[in-house]
Amino acid sequence: MANIIDGKKIAAETRAEIAAAVEEQKSRGITPGLAVVIVGENPASQVYVRDKHKACGEVGIYSEVIELPETTTEEELLSKVAALNNDDRIDGILVQLPLPRHINEEHILNAIRPDKDVDAFHPVNTGKIMIGNPDFLPCTPAGVMVMLEKSGIEIAGKHCVVVGRSNIVGKPMAMLLLAANGTVTVCHSKTRDLAEVTRSADILVVAIGRADFITGDMVKEGAVVIDVGMNRRADGKLTGDVDFASVSEKASYITPVPGGVGPMTITMLLRNTLTAAELHHKS
Ligand code: GUN
Repeated sequence: MANIIDGKKIAAETRAEIAAAVEEQKSRGITPGLAVVIVGENPASQVYVRDKHKACGEVGIYSEVIELPETTTEEELLSKVAALNNDDRIDGILVQLPLPRHINEEHILNAIRPDKDVDAFHPVNTGKIMIGNPDFLPCTPAGVMVMLEKSGIEIAGKHCVVVGRSNIVGKPMAMLLLAANGTVTVCHSKTRDLAEVTRSADILVVAIGRADFITGDMVKEGAVVIDVGMNRRADGKLTGDVDFASVSEKASYITPVPGGVGPMTITMLLRNTLTAAELHHKS
């Protein structure tokens, strides 16, 4: 039976460190501030946004939630982003995705000032990640890196297999593992003989959004398995992309869902907001 990597516990420890760092910033007259913008009434997004606001309060970060109606135009949203770009109380800006279909997501993400882009989705920040010189790390992959580090898992020289190639998780995850000297393979829906590749992984990170997709026969004995998935089964239960029952029999370490990667994502947003505040007060 695998060791369980407890995301809730690691998130709580990391948030305590962040709260102490916020205190220290405040003693220098700096109050980090985050603005979260939500357009429309997607119920999952509403929960995420509420959780982000609450987490900010718990570590002493000032936060604003800007709720805009579904009918908001792209121009209106761009002008809101421009106002936040120029607002000195705000160090970090996050526009919750997905946006309504009539708004071009790329236009919006590109309008956020790179030094306030705490999601690290702006092309300037994705480019900096690519060349190994980032200001901010994208929250979910950064959370995975902290979990590996706090569990004492070596990455250098290991075969790291990332399943999924999204801009939010798969691609930046591959870059962070590469920066940590892993040998990285990225798999996707067109990969031939996926199981053969996943079976060669020392560290397997799965982010595809398909419930219980990775099964025990696809995993090497002793592998580290990180499940980024968050799916709702027909019975209403939350489940990851990894079939926990069979994979936990073979893995040396595994993250559960819920209580694994999820709690780390918001924690990394808090850390990025702290970093942004530091950047703004350095000059
Ligand atoms: N929607 C789901 N995940 C995310 C995220 O990490 N950032 C933003 N902005 N929206 C999301």
